[in-house]
Amino acid sequence: MNTIPSTLRMPPGFRWGVATAAHQNEGDNHNNQWSAWEQQPGRIHQGQHSGKATDWWNLDVAAADFDRAAELGLNSIRLSVEWSRIEPEPGVFDASTLRQYAEMLRLLRQRGLEPMVTLHHFTDPLWLTEIGGWENPLVEDYFSRFTARVVEALGDQVTLWCTINEPLVYAVVGYLDGRFPPGVKNIRRAMNVLRRMLLAHGRAYRAIHRLQNHAHAGLAHHMRVHLPANPANAADRRAAAMMNQIANRSTLAAITEGKLTPLLGLGQTATHLIDTSDFIGLNYYTTILTTFDPTQPGNLFARTFFDPAAEFSDYDSAGDPYGIVDPAGLYLALKTLASYSKPIYITENGMPGDADDMRGRFIATHLAEAWRAQQEGADVRGYYHWTLVDNFEWVEAWNLKFGLFSLDRETGARTPKPSAAIYAQIAQANGVPARLLETLAPGYLARLEAGN
Ligand code: FCB
Repeated sequence: MNTIPSTLRMPPGFRWGVATAAHQNEGDNHNNQWSAWEQQPGRIHQGQHSGKATDWWNLDVAAADFDRAAELGLNSIRLSVEWSRIEPEPGVFDASTLRQYAEMLRLLRQRGLEPMVTLHHFTDPLWLTEIGGWENPLVEDYFSRFTARVVEALGDQVTLWCTINEPLVYAVVGYLDGRFPPGVKNIRRAMNVLRRMLLAHGRAYRAIHRLQNHAHAGLAHHMRVHLPANPANAADRRAAAMMNQIANRSTLAAITEGKLTPLLGLGQTATHLIDTSDFIGLNYYTTILTTFDPTQPGNLFARTFFDPAAEFSDYDSAGDPYGIVDPAGLYLALKTLASYSKPIYITENGMPGDADDMRGRFIATHLAEAWRAQQEGADVRGYYHWTLVDNFEWVEAWNLKFGLFSLDRETGARTPKPSAAIYAQIAQANGVPARLLETLAPGYLARLEAGN
């Protein structure tokens, strides 16, 4: 490959950010399906609650965190708005909540932090859950009405919109493996929910553009890259390709060409979904190996597992690995996305790591791979690290720690972890300094130079 410059510089105007979500940070959310789920015994690690979360609904606390982000040299924050606060009952919109979000956005902008606003990040108002949530076809109308209200109220401060966070994860974890609410285990229902979410994305995208023609809107797509367990084995290669098709490409086909793959609905084309992405948001955490397994017909003869030889991040409370550290997987995901010829934001990337002994290297190597993909033509416009402060990690509650800052839940005090300074150095240089990369990951530069 080319010789490596002294800084793996990203293009001018690159967005350096952190990603967050309302329910994981605001606290005191009592009107959504997650707060109800938290009340049910056995659902959340050690029966814990989101409680005050990181207390962002207190704007003084949020502003102090925005200061921290600005001091790192970041210029953007991805956050979500909480539907159940804004529309506590169907058709009833809470003006004071919208004013509070407007103020939150003003506090961000004041600090030079451009907001990327997600309209749906896993939580639904209870009234929606009561009428069947995302299985009820009316949700498409409700979500686009909600979207329009938010754009009307906040559009003077936001042009970067993310309609829905990880439709596939919401559908699969809530309706197939049942760990998220509503705890259903039924593939047909899961695919119906995913289909509904994609259709609702299309409606929301159009609602945003009707109100704001200069909007830049997309969704955040989770991609767990499937690699063949044995690349020399054609059956493994086919199994991995099939999994990538189902897990990764079917959502992309929907939001670019309007194609609903057979699993999502009879192979139809939904015309209102065509070209509903001004950008593609990528949430990338890990890769997984895939092997052909004749004993797994229910799984389409594919078995997946993490590469046992790889480096693992923290394990979840059930003792299962969250994932492996595989920066090259980010490169592969970006190469896949580049084929859609759209701007790309890495809307989430991070790792659980209580000790913070890997996170700095994780960030530097992943950004080195983003740079490599960008050099080869992927139009990468921003990177949002998940996350700023250790927060409420859904069923894992406070167990998995993804923050650049730790949180003392008694006092609310934040302490920067060593990785915060590393991310700051990178953001301030607008790219990974080669020397920093070499210090954190000796030999990585040589790998980049060799192009592998
Ligand atoms: C993503 C979610 C986000 C957070 C990270 C760790 O799948 O979008 O809310 O939980 O994982």
